[in-house]
Amino acid sequence: MTQDLPWQDNLPTYRLDRPAFTDEAVLNREYEHVFRTSWQLIGFESELTDPGDYLVRRLGNDSVIVARDELGEITVLLNSCSHRGTQLCRASFGNAAHFRCSYHGWTFANDGRLVGVPGLRTHYPSDFRKQRYDLPRARAHSYRGFVFATWDEQAPPLVDYLGDLRWYLDAMLDLTGGEWEVYGPPQRSVMKGNWKLVTDNFAGDGYHMQTTHKSAFELGIYGDSLASGTLGAREMDLIAINVATPGGHALRAGYVVEKGQHLLTHGTTDPMYLGYPQQLWPEFTAAQTDEQVRFNSHCEVAHGIVFPNAAFLSVSHDRAIGRESDPLTKYFVWRTHLPISARRTECLYWTLVPKGMSEEWKRRSYGFQARSQSAGGMLFEMDDFENFARIDRAISGCVADSAPTDLSLGLGLGEPVPDFPGPGRAEYSTLSEHNQRGFYRRWAELMGEPR
Ligand code: FES
Ligand code: FE
Repeated sequence: MTQDLPWQDNLPTYRLDRPAFTDEAVLNREYEHVFRTSWQLIGFESELTDPGDYLVRRLGNDSVIVARDELGEITVLLNSCSHRGTQLCRASFGNAAHFRCSYHGWTFANDGRLVGVPGLRTHYPSDFRKQRYDLPRARAHSYRGFVFATWDEQAPPLVDYLGDLRWYLDAMLDLTGGEWEVYGPPQRSVMKGNWKLVTDNFAGDGYHMQTTHKSAFELGIYGDSLASGTLGAREMDLIAINVATPGGHALRAGYVVEKGQHLLTHGTTDPMYLGYPQQLWPEFTAAQTDEQVRFNSHCEVAHGIVFPNAAFLSVSHDRAIGRESDPLTKYFVWRTHLPISARRTECLYWTLVPKGMSEEWKRRSYGFQARSQSAGGMLFEMDDFENFARIDRAISGCVADSAPTDLSLGLGLGEPVPDFPGPGRAEYSTLSEHNQRGFYRRWAELMGEPR
């Protein structure tokens, strides 16, 4: 399956065999080797504010209950009764101290303990021990309000798993100097196509912008000033950098800098946080380290992935998707891409907003996200999903199936960014598949050699 996928970035081609995107046997192997061994994003603490709050989510191909128990701890429980395996909880969220099985009535506390068995004293052997039937618990850990879980007892601690990407997550979250929360319930949609198609796109595909999303530029969605290459009286350039980490995580950030200016010479003298009210910019600068200011200032868009299947996008849009009077507004969306089958993917979207922003700003930010990067969006998501569906339709024939998927854009051409404030190897690479190669390299390491 992976014989054409080299580990190094210095070969003339970089390819992946197409059954990786269509074959159920590959997906079954992914569940075991990729999803089961990785930390996966399954929700946010702000979705579980009170004891008893729960969410039903998926961890790989298992349904799980993510619950805040009576002591306030977040637990992730297998959503399958220990008796015959019936799905215990069918609502997607709610509040409950106990989960009672609909088949024979076994009852579990929201920390996973089996606490009730009808007929226990009279109809079960005297050595029956309820503790043996507690619900299996995944390891769960929360990082700055992001809840991750894994079934793998050997997986490294979450902070180590996040590796260099953690610095970038901190930098994005520290921008506003306070906590973030999920605004509104998460949205869901089903995409036609393999989960890796949309994930590699989020890892760093700047290449598709000029064709797939051309109409968004023409509508002026990024603001008249950015579309025309000017900001006030100044001429501007857009520069992108890519960072791919050994763990398969990736970040791509696009900066607006004055024409001819080096990315890093914008320095800290003229911080600019596009999409946020200008009167807050001094507060934002004060809340961050100098390195974080250098990373965040002038950053128009940042997107990337937490391996294997979580993705994020922070971007500003203009009134083209709002009302005439709407200013350029940032949104920060997080998403997961969960396979339903090798050729269908469930996407979950959460909009994060800084807790301290006004209700009006939060609603506008949510609206901009929902109208662009969601199932109901007019732009972006629909454009992208159309491409993924066409890939899915076209690559399953016996001729198309044996042609490789190419990933060699920018191979060997990325120039390192000197003194970039964040860790890892940052490359100037407006057009490059550097990050996608990092994602597939980690995927291939976990999938192992061809069978
Ligand atoms: Fe749940 Fe029997 S299957 S109680
Ligand atoms: Fe896109």
